[in-house]
Amino acid sequence: MIVLGMSIAVHSYKGGTGKTLFSINLAATLVQHGKKVCLMDLDFRAPSLTTFFGAEKAECWLNDYLNGTCKIEKVLINHSQRINEGGKLFVALANPSTEAIRDMSAKDRKWEMRALGRLLALRNPILNDNGFDYLILDTSPGLQYSSINAIVSTDLVIVVTTFDKSDVEGTKRMLHELYELFEKKTNIIVNKVLYDVSSKSTEKDMQNKITEMYQVPVLGIVPCFCDVSKAEGAFIFTQEKPSHPFAKIVDEMANRIEKNNSM
Ligand SMILES: Nc1ncnc2c1ncn2[C@@H]1O[C@H](COP(=O)(O)OP(=O)(O)OP(=O)(O)O)[C@@H](O)[C@H]1O
Ligand SMILES: [Mg+2]
Repeated sequence: MIVLGMSIAVHSYKGGTGKTLFSINLAATLVQHGKKVCLMDLDFRAPSLTTFFGAEKAECWLNDYLNGTCKIEKVLINHSQRINEGGKLFVALANPSTEAIRDMSAKDRKWEMRALGRLLALRNPILNDNGFDYLILDTSPGLQYSSINAIVSTDLVIVVTTFDKSDVEGTKRMLHELYELFEKKTNIIVNKVLYDVSSKSTEKDMQNKITEMYQVPVLGIVPCFCDVSKAEGAFIFTQEKPSHPFAKIVDEMANRIEKNNSM
């Protein structure tokens, strides 16, 4: 069996659907499966990975790499010790300072085109030369340039959506007008579901409904878990609570991604 390197953008139409939660927990789970994973914060509007990983070890930010002032090796931070066992986890952080957020939001088209070039130039060195199995990009919601760049540059887009009406409509539009336009392989996660999906037949019914609705493969259906909310994004949930149903669902998602990625 040949396992290929894969880059993944985690995106959504609306904010707060769970992109960061799944980016971190999928990365951690793939590492537990023995993989070498590089997780990047491409949400320059509201950087979030510093909350989980701290900024102390950062020599350079991803902003600096995209600005052309720093090599990617100086941006990557080894956080493998955060995972109980398995492979390796490296993280690239976005600068969370107010000044950096304002600076990134004022970039023009020309800069964004250069940033796309730099992002595209990352894939092969990360996956081939540095031997990473997965490159996961956590993005901003909607049609921000940085998110479109992330979508264009990756092999798979995971769209995290909810049953919120405007989210459903926006996600459908993006599927047709954005991901299809770029001929992107797309999977969908429906998150914060309020129905009981604990029985296999209900889950199967819902999976069929969602596939029919969006016409793309379903990576997972995730209930709203109070424990996940209560954690307030303070730790890597699947690491702290490996026997929680949420960790089981993320584990199944990681297995699906790995299966898709082997031949
Ligand atoms: N299945 C779930 N059950 C309960 N709470 C959840 C669930 N999924 C996400 N959350 C909570 O929803 C909030 C938003 O999640 P998260 O920050 O991952 O979203 P996001 O899409 O990255 O947001 P943004 O668009 O602002 O970047 C967090 O507090 C998270 O813990
Ligand atoms: Mg986020």
